[in-house]
Amino acid sequence: MQGTTGEFKAMWDDTHFYLLAVVKDQVLNDAAALTVAHEQDSIELFLDENNAKTSQYDPDDGQYRISFANTQTINGGRDLDLSCMTSAAKVTDDGYIVELRVAFAGDYHESGVIMGYDIQINNADDSGSRTGTANWSNELNDGWNRTDHYGLIKLVETME
Ligand code: BGC
Repeated sequence: MQGTTGEFKAMWDDTHFYLLAVVKDQVLNDAAALTVAHEQDSIELFLDENNAKTSQYDPDDGQYRISFANTQTINGGRDLDLSCMTSAAKVTDDGYIVELRVAFAGDYHESGVIMGYDIQINNADDSGSRTGTANWSNELNDGWNRTDHYGLIKLVETME
């Protein structure tokens, strides 16, 4: 996507979901207004905690966005309260890194559970407009208001 790529890692524990994003992007821009925060260079996490794959957002569903400058925005069926997110972002020589922690909205998280999941990179040009998106799973650009096209992630326990 215009030379922009990303690598992501995810973890979970009893209360939170964690995402690490390492994005390569030569042109970083967050001039777009917060009302269109997806036009800023940013990453998004999509979670459908009960994997209900619905055509609308339920209370356990969320879209969590962090820009390269660590601006947080949220959209979803859950309480739209940024306090469920903790994040840090750092500009690197060739892009940016984001660490994101999201408090689970529901009580579905236990080892073996499969959740609906996707991640997205929003790529802005130097004028502040989004010129492209890249998704791990769903390329339909409809994950922001429905969960039925998300990919899947399985929660597994690797440590005692
Ligand atoms: C989508 C936009 C949508 C926005 C809403 C983004 O992930 O790409 O089309 O308007 O989410 O939050």
